[in-house]
Amino acid sequence: MTQYGPQAAHWPYPCWIAHRGAGKLAPENTMAAFRLGAEHGFAMFECDVKLSADGEPFLLHDNELDRTTNGQGVAGVLKWDALSRLDAGSWHGRTYAGEPLLRLEALSRWLQALGLMVNLEIKPTPGEEVRTGRIVAQHVARLWAQSQIKPLLSSFSVDALHAAQEAQPELPRALLLDKWVRDAVDQAQSLGCQALVVNQTQLDADRIELGHAVGLKMLTYTVNDASRASTLWLAGLDGLITDRVDLFEPQARLGANPAQLMYVAEEFIA
Ligand code: G3P
Ligand code: MG
Repeated sequence: MTQYGPQAAHWPYPCWIAHRGAGKLAPENTMAAFRLGAEHGFAMFECDVKLSADGEPFLLHDNELDRTTNGQGVAGVLKWDALSRLDAGSWHGRTYAGEPLLRLEALSRWLQALGLMVNLEIKPTPGEEVRTGRIVAQHVARLWAQSQIKPLLSSFSVDALHAAQEAQPELPRALLLDKWVRDAVDQAQSLGCQALVVNQTQLDADRIELGHAVGLKMLTYTVNDASRASTLWLAGLDGLITDRVDLFEPQARLGANPAQLMYVAEEFIA
C-alpha cells in the first residue's frame, strides 16, 4: 500500500492545480469546469466538498446556494434529491444553463477514468466540521479504493482534518492557511499532514524552507500572475493552485521537472 507518512518522499501530485475546476472560465465546481480544465492540460484539480442533509458529499464553495445556483439559503440543510435538481450553470452564462451540482461520486468516476488527480478541500457547513471530515474521508476511501493515487484532502478546519485523520488515517492531508501563523508547521505536523497550502500573499522562501525542513510539501493558492508564479517556483514551491487555466501551461512545468514527467508517463501511458 502507498504510504503517505509526514516524512515520506512519495508525493505523486503534479505541481499545477486548477482551482475549482477551471477557475472563473466555467461555473466553478461543476463537471463543465473540470472538462475545461482538463482540455487546458491540467492533470489535477482543487474543488470544495460539503455534505447534503442526508450525508451525500457534493461540490459547492459557499455555505449558501445563492451565488452559484438558482437555489436559496444554506445548501447543507437540503437533501441531495433537492440539490440535484438545481441549476449551477446559468449564473455563469447561457452556455452552461442547466449544469447540475456535482456529486463527489460522479467526479471520482470521471477523474479515475482519465487518470486525473484531485485536491478535495473539505468545506463544511458551519457546525458540521467533524461530520463532514469523517464522511468525506470514508467516501474517498471507498470511491478511490482501486486507485493507487488517492485524493489529497485539505481544509481550513482543524476539526474536519482531525476527523478525516481519525476515520481514514491512510489518506494524505494538507492544512490550509489563509494567514501564516508562527506554529504553522507544528500544526500541520500534529495533524499528520503531508503538506501546507498557504495563501500566496503569505508565502516566501523562508516559510517554504521552514516546511521543507520537516518534510512538508509547500503549496499555495490562488496564483493568477506569471511573475508571482515564477518567484514562488524559484523559492522552492511544490504546488500552485490557479484560476488561470488559460494562462499557464502545466506541461511546460512538468517538462522542467523530469521526475514528475516520468511519473505521469508511467502512470498514464503504460
Ligand atoms: O483550496 C485552496 C483554496 O480554494 C482555498 O480558498 O475560498 O477558494 O476555497 P477558497
Ligand atoms: Mg477551495
